[in-house]
Amino acid sequence: MANWTLIDKHARAWLQEAGKRIVSSFATTPEIMTKTNPNDLVTNIDQETEQFFTEKIRETFPDHHILGEEGFGDEPTGLSGIIWIIDPIDGTTNFVHQQRNFMISIGIYENGEPGLGFVYDVVYQELYHARAGEGAYWNDKKLPALEELPVEKALIGINSTWLVSNRLIDPKETLIPLVKDVRGTRSYGSAALEFVFVATGRLDAYITMRLSPWDFAGGKIIVEEVGGKVTNLKGEPLKMLERNPIVVARPGLHEKIIQKYLSKGL
Ligand code: IPD
Ligand code: CA
Ligand code: CA
Ligand code: CA
Repeated sequence: MANWTLIDKHARAWLQEAGKRIVSSFATTPEIMTKTNPNDLVTNIDQETEQFFTEKIRETFPDHHILGEEGFGDEPTGLSGIIWIIDPIDGTTNFVHQQRNFMISIGIYENGEPGLGFVYDVVYQELYHARAGEGAYWNDKKLPALEELPVEKALIGINSTWLVSNRLIDPKETLIPLVKDVRGTRSYGSAALEFVFVATGRLDAYITMRLSPWDFAGGKIIVEEVGGKVTNLKGEPLKMLERNPIVVARPGLHEKIIQKYLSKGL
């Protein structure tokens, strides 16, 4: 059984240190590279931050496994044991263009079960964290359980790309009617930020067609600790080592979004 208190203590210290390094990097010009396409950015700071965590974890917890976006982890094929799922900078485009609105995201699981979730806004020094079964916190403030809300009063996070024709969902039957019915939409460019915005009630739902494990591993634990729901578009559990389409929302609203809108186009 994992010693979550010890893991939590180290993770927080490393997040603080990594955050300071990222903020001091603003004084230098980052090296910007592209990955799968010209809009898929990565910088030396993403890479150095992931390397920083992998070195610390390997030194301190040599039997733990690591899955990191930038490939410095172990590329685990299963979920047995303790696994750290790390996105060193979630929102790299924001990091490059805005120097804000990006997060460090870490989810730590034991045999596929949630343990600790961290989403750290290094610029504003806001740490969102949760320990499974013990509630979620925004810095030291315990977050209250999420309450139900009708669709007409909901503010939802959605990227406008999913409202134009795409290979994953027919927006005409699903997302466009939803966008017409809700109070408003927002798009922040960092999945981890959008997850914790649902956890804090600043957004009521977040819908996206494609997230990787490192995008959602930390935020999922935080949202679920306040009673929010995180599933695929059919309401099924996420596959922790694969890409998933995702709907995150308050209880009640989550079921409504799936039944009344998303199920019409699947
Ligand atoms: C991206 C952000 C973005 C989401 C993309 C992710 P990255 O992560 O979370 O909001 O829409 O799907 O890939 O690449 O900046 O870590
Ligand atoms: Ca990326
Ligand atoms: Ca990401
Ligand atoms: Ca990233």
